Formats: sequence, structure tokens, C-alpha cells
Amino acid sequence: MQKLKLSVIPGDGIGQEVVPETLKVLDTLAEINGGVKFEYETHPWSCEYYLEHGVMMPKDGMARLHQTDAIYLGAVGNPKLVPDHVSLWGLLIKIRRECEQVINIRPAQYINGVNSPLANPNDFDFIVVRENSEGEYSEVGGRIHSGDDEIAIQNAVFTRKATERTIRYAFELAQRRSGQVTSATKSNGIVHSMPFWDQVFQEVGKDYPSIQTESNHIDALCAFFVSKPHQFDVIVASNLFGDILTDLGAAVMGSIGIAPAANININGKYPSMFEPVHGSAPDIIGRGIANPIGQLWTAKMMLDHLGLDELGSLLMKAIKETIGEGIKTRDLGGTSYTNEVIDHIITKLTAYS
Ligand code: NAI
Ligand code: MG
Repeated sequence: MQKLKLSVIPGDGIGQEVVPETLKVLDTLAEINGGVKFEYETHPWSCEYYLEHGVMMPKDGMARLHQTDAIYLGAVGNPKLVPDHVSLWGLLIKIRRECEQVINIRPAQYINGVNSPLANPNDFDFIVVRENSEGEYSEVGGRIHSGDDEIAIQNAVFTRKATERTIRYAFELAQRRSGQVTSATKSNGIVHSMPFWDQVFQEVGKDYPSIQTESNHIDALCAFFVSKPHQFDVIVASNLFGDILTDLGAAVMGSIGIAPAANININGKYPSMFEPVHGSAPDIIGRGIANPIGQLWTAKMMLDHLGLDELGSLLMKAIKETIGEGIKTRDLGGTSYTNEVIDHIITKLTAYS
């Protein structure tokens, strides 16, 4: 029996509702497989925890996370209790940094039964690989003078190490998908970092002769996500460009309640973290109507990451069929409650086996 240890952080708001429900699905999958068992180490780290202890996580928190195979997170943030910058930096961003989760990935797919705002969504299925540690989001720079003479300088930082590992990750991923990588660039306007990015993209591409490559300027790429999203497979982007593209990806899918994300540690030294794109949704807490699909799809990404791809595929099949049959929460135009969606998925999974 393979035992996998998961750090579970439900966090705030609807995180506390969708995380426990989705763990039932993970247990069902483990039973179906028969050879794997999930052991959960659940942490109460949240804004309520902060009010009691003055910190978002205890001193030994990070060490405890390091001892597990993956981190499964709900959502963090309750601005009525704790300012967002305190809760996010004290937990989410701290984990991303200290667990060296240098790449962020977010898939987007057309799902039958989810109303995409696109007139012609055409069955798209792509994944954005975003550099998650440097680039345009750097602390290098400063401000001097004041008034009319004031100057602000913000430096983007592109190291070969981080650029190359991000691009290589995208190529590796493309080998397991349809074999196509699109690079987001802007070398016509940004004349140092983006030509460098393009150069590394070309160099790494030489190691993957069977992969089809293309570079698109970020502005055109944004337009293409709307006009022809089905033409993309893997898209690799810098921190800022990836940030913009992933929100756009979630938007064309049709609901923030279904979008998943993963923060990947690529050297295997520390665990990766899996979380939905949505936040704690304070406006719908306690009503049982939170959509659990974003959390579940994140769980699917975690299963794939842990080498349990077959279980991941099974879960995705059950998710799609459930939505297709109209078993969906209000944000998707349905009437089902969180637990009803989960029960339906569990029934399906059990029937497959
Ligand atoms: P939000 O994503 O929590 O909510 C935005 C809107 O989408 C709300 O109307 C909400 O009801 C709806 N929504 C979100 N997830 C849903 C789901 N699963 N099912 C049904 N409806 C859903 O974003 P908001 O309101 O800006 O932020 C609330 C708190 O969450 C803040 O403290 C914010 O900082 C935090 N946050 C945390 C994130 C994280 O932990 N990664 C990401 C985004 C926000
Ligand atoms: Mg964003």
C-alpha cells in the first residue's frame, strides 16, 4: 500500500466548506484504486487562527509542510477579521516562496454545461505555465524626488535559471499533451528581457524537435484567447504575462468557481501546492452553495502530480459528466448544493469501478 501524506489547509470562508467535501472524493478514489491511501494532516491556519495566535501559521508550520507529499489548500482571506496583505503574505505567499514553488500552472477547458462568455468557444483545452518567482514582479527599483521631479524605477529581473526551467517545464508538459508550445513575448516593445526570453525559448526548443513552437506577442495572444482559444495547448509566459493570461483563461471558461491552479516545486525538495483560483467568497459563506469543482479539479492536478494520472482522469470524467447532467451549483445556473454535487460525483466514481 502506497501512503501519501497530504497537508490540508481549508483556510477561510468557503475553503472550510469545499475542502472537507472534496476529501470524501479523494477517499473514494483511493478505495477504487486499492493500492493507495491518503493520510491527511489538517491545519487550522486561517484568519481566525491569526486572531487567536497573532500569526497565520505556527513557527514549526513550514517544517511540518515540508514533511508531506503535497499541500492541498482551500482559500485564504477574511478582510473583516484580518487585512488581506497580512493573511495572504503570512500564509499563501509564504508557502509559495519557502517551498520554492517557482512555477504556476492553470488549465482552462471548455466544459459542456458551463456557460462560456465566448460566442464560439469551440472545445478549447489549454494550460498556461507561468514563471512564479521573478520577472516583472521584482523588488528591484525605487523612487526618488517628489512632486514634478518624482521618478519611479521598476526593474524586471530575468535570470537564465528561472527562464530556462519554466520554458523546459512547458516543453515537458507539451510532450504529454498535444505537442505544441506557444511562448508569450513582447520583444517588439521590451527590448532586453523579451529578446532574452525568446532566445532561451529557441535554445530549449532545440532539445524537443518533435514539439511545434510559436511565439506570440502578449497583446495579440490575449485577443487570440478570445477569438480562437481552441488553437492553443501549452502556453508559457513570464510572471506578469502569465498572471494576465490565467485570469483571462478562467474568464473564458465561464466561472471562477471551477478554475484550478497548482504551484509547482520542480526539484522535489519541497511539496507543491494545489488550490482553486477563487478566494474565500465571504458573500456566500454558510449557505451550502459553494461550487466544489474548482477545488476538485485542483485535486485532479494533485493526483496527476503524484503520479496517479489514472485516478485524475477518472475524477475529471466524473466532473464533466456531472456538470453535463445539470448537477451544478447556482454560480453555474443550477440549483444543487455543494454536498449534492459531491454525492453525485462519488456515486459516479463508484459506478465506474
Ligand atoms: P472570491 O473569489 O472569494 O469571490 C468572488 C465572487 O465569486 C464572489 O461573488 C463569490 O461568491 C464568487 N465565488 C468564488 N468562488 C466561488 C465558488 N466556489 N462557488 C460559487 N461562487 C464563488 O474573491 P474576493 O471576493 O475578491 O475575495 C474574498 C477573499 O478571498 C479576500 O480576502 C481575498 O483576498 C481572498 N482571496 C484568496 C485567494 C486565495 O486564497 N488564493 C484568491 C482570491 C481571493
Ligand atoms: Mg491574478
